[in-house]
Amino acid sequence: MTGERVKNRELKAKITDAARAADLVKNGYKVGMSGFTGSGYPKLVPQALADHIRREQGNGGKFRIVVMTGASTGSELDGALAMVDGIEMRMPYNSDPVARGKINSGMMEYFDCHLGSVARNVRCGFFGELDTAIIEVAGITEDGRFIPSTSVGNNQTFIDCAREVILEVNSYLPPELEGMHDIYEPSTPPHAQPNMVLKPSDRIGIPYLTCPPDKIRAIVETNQPDQTSVLKAADANSRAISRHILDFFRQEVKKGRLPKNLSPLQSGVGNVANAVLYGLLDSEFEDLEVYTEVIQDAMLALINSGKIRFASSAALSLSPSTFEKFKANIRSYREKILLRPQSISNHVGIIRRLGVIAMNGCVEFDIYGNVNSTHVNGTRIINGIGGSGDFARNAFISIFTTSSVAGGGDISCVLPMVSHVDHCEHDVDVVITEQGLADLRGTSPKQRAVRIIDRCVHPDYRPMLKDYYARALRESPGKHTPHLLEEAFSWHTRFLRTGSMKA
Ligand code: COA
Repeated sequence: MTGERVKNRELKAKITDAARAADLVKNGYKVGMSGFTGSGYPKLVPQALADHIRREQGNGGKFRIVVMTGASTGSELDGALAMVDGIEMRMPYNSDPVARGKINSGMMEYFDCHLGSVARNVRCGFFGELDTAIIEVAGITEDGRFIPSTSVGNNQTFIDCAREVILEVNSYLPPELEGMHDIYEPSTPPHAQPNMVLKPSDRIGIPYLTCPPDKIRAIVETNQPDQTSVLKAADANSRAISRHILDFFRQEVKKGRLPKNLSPLQSGVGNVANAVLYGLLDSEFEDLEVYTEVIQDAMLALINSGKIRFASSAALSLSPSTFEKFKANIRSYREKILLRPQSISNHVGIIRRLGVIAMNGCVEFDIYGNVNSTHVNGTRIINGIGGSGDFARNAFISIFTTSSVAGGGDISCVLPMVSHVDHCEHDVDVVITEQGLADLRGTSPKQRAVRIIDRCVHPDYRPMLKDYYARALRESPGKHTPHLLEEAFSWHTRFLRTGSMKA
């Protein structure tokens, strides 16, 4: 590597190798790293750090750090560090399988929190002093500013708050990323200043990350793609969910509650969310705007087709082949995609102001509309709440989707009571499975239960859920939210006992 992407003379002198950079990180450090939905994370330094930790531990030493990021990263970061038990505490989001295993076996602490609040909480010192920021960038300009990578996350906050900064300059990234970002850091409370994002395409900051040069301790050059995952192709269930959403949109437009080009859309992570977006490709909806935290493959397909006029996001998380196409045609996206810090992409005030339609996947929901996005059987975490709470609570219309059954049909995703609550009944407007859609707006708990059971539950479980609700009504007459407390989790416990929720 040549230092070609490091145009600033003074900073060129700080180019070193990953092992030397990793040596700057000490046991017990709090480290803020770039990375959001598997994109824009540092790759070489975390792996070198994992090697260093393995050596230290081999010599009988203890070496564990606190790792904060934007959101999920790749196996070179979370996987490598978790593998050597190098992470004491992980926040705010993880989707790496090795780290998930350590979290669920009690070997790693995990603070799973709303992504939109992380930067403010770091700036306000809620998580203590940050020692090091390790940030991937696409290049360094002559005047020493950084061209951000494929995600923005909390990068400027980590750079500002850490004592030391290590940069990974990744020449695999297209240089044309320059100009596609809008870096703006909201002021901190009390009396934070208003920000002026009035539509998804509004720019309120500058296209670069900035840092005093003396804080930069090391620069490492890389040339590696993100290890993003390839999403599953849409199956019959996700196509059915997509059809229900489109019918709902049509009805809302007909009633004059949404404009023809809808309201700005947010779409969550995962296979179902991606498949739902593909449904829009063949629909009549056009001139769409997006205000979201992650752009997955389907979103790019909608931009390519001209259906989406503009998309604002915190990250581009494209499968490897789609990323290659993005790189080849990057100039055509420059006026259509803007990448922002997650404190702005997930800013609750902006989400509310723009009237975002939030569409997020979930693990299960219950007959009263409470939603579990994170835990299997109330105990084992899958990923985390991510930005779903930022959007759900503040959306114009908040939609949650899931297949009605999981685990080959042995798990019902619609239940008497969710085993873990991420989004309470008050933050959920519409729930959808392949069976149908329940609009919960303006309904009481009892009205919600009837709608959900009739429209969303798989036929294998509908009689059981009807029976539960009928007995709950009988045994607690007049109660606002009828439940049989001793039975509310019996579906989960039956699954744990027998391998199926079926009675
Ligand atoms: N019980 C047990 N496992 C379940 C389940 C349930 N009720 N529902 C889903 N799962 C499992 C699936 O079987 C699948 O497992 P596999 O990977 O071993 O096959 C996995 O969870 C993913 O399910 P899938 O149906 O493919 O959905 P998805 O890819 O759309 O992901 C979530 C669904 C909930 C995991 C995902 O949306 C998520 O992590 N959400 C939280 C974060 C979030 O919403 N962020 C949005 C802001 S951008």
